[in-house]
Amino acid sequence: MTRLLAVSGPEDPAIVEAAALLRAGGLVAFPTETVYGLGADGLNPAAVAKIYAAKGRPATNPVILHVADAAGAQALVSRWPAEARALVERFWPGPLTLVLPASDRVPSIVRAGGPSVALRCPAHPVALALIRATGRPLAAPSANRSQHLSPTLAQHVASSLGGAVDLILDGGPTEAGLESTILDLSGVRPRILRPGPIGPADIEALIGPVDLWEGVVKAGDRQAAPGMAERHYAPRARLELVAPGSGLREASGSVAYVALGALPALPAGVRGILLPLDAEAVGTRLYALLHELDDAGFERIFMERPPEDEAWLAVRDRLRRASAKERP
Ligand code: TXA
Ligand code: MG
Repeated sequence: MTRLLAVSGPEDPAIVEAAALLRAGGLVAFPTETVYGLGADGLNPAAVAKIYAAKGRPATNPVILHVADAAGAQALVSRWPAEARALVERFWPGPLTLVLPASDRVPSIVRAGGPSVALRCPAHPVALALIRATGRPLAAPSANRSQHLSPTLAQHVASSLGGAVDLILDGGPTEAGLESTILDLSGVRPRILRPGPIGPADIEALIGPVDLWEGVVKAGDRQAAPGMAERHYAPRARLELVAPGSGLREASGSVAYVALGALPALPAGVRGILLPLDAEAVGTRLYALLHELDDAGFERIFMERPPEDEAWLAVRDRLRRASAKERP
């Protein structure tokens, strides 16, 4: 049975209980500033295996280790380059995940057999308190079934993962709403594997030019990062990106239309939803909105294509994947 406990802050006794469960090899979902994570003791391969089983996640897709500070990260890598030091000083705790060469303390299952490990220090008081109370790095992917929408509310975790989790810590809605930026520092040139709340310009200002990885990994390959499956972060409803006001004439069934900035005139029966023309606000709200529209049984969602500028990079990335036709 999954239990759900509200946590008020880092001193909440629920955290002590959650840490004991984690040390005993259990699964605990917890809030971060991006999305909810499905946590396990990151140094216990059997516990990490439960994450893969609960999510239905392919063994080829590695998981992030969550640490409480830079020292916690350094203990898990074989190299700590100057770029890592600079980025961590500026952005940790925060939504930046760094991929670095792993030390041999990191279990193979965490790395999906590869040579590197992804490390992140979340900016959420409950997540940080939980890592400290457990005394281990916490392996934690987003707390959803593989390829489904990420959870921004404890309730999303409960409905996606149901009985597979021992405990869900409910810390209310998450703030950023989109997953962390993933930056690979293990190769010759720094490379963004997944755009997120910290943009390329923020990173480049500190360490110079970075590449942006926009490829797609085919099913069965060891994945360089998650969103690399073309369809990912997807609602059950069919999502289509459109120019403002278009695409609606041929629509039938129960249809929602998500506008950015201004709501156009809509055909009768189409439910209109207005979001601000503000990338950060849309990022915060996007997954929760898609969850709501799914729960309300909409069959089709039309959403206006966001602007092309860099501020919208992460939102565009998630929307492109959520609207891709085929699951790999
Ligand atoms: O905001 C976030 O990052 C959230 C919260 C819970 O921290 N976590 C999250 O985890 O989004 P997940 O597993 O859903 O996505 C992280 C992705 C993995 O899918 C994986 O492909 C990539 O990070 N990743 C993990 N380890 C990696 C590695 N060693 N090299 C390259 N990519 C890696
Ligand atoms: Mg995920």
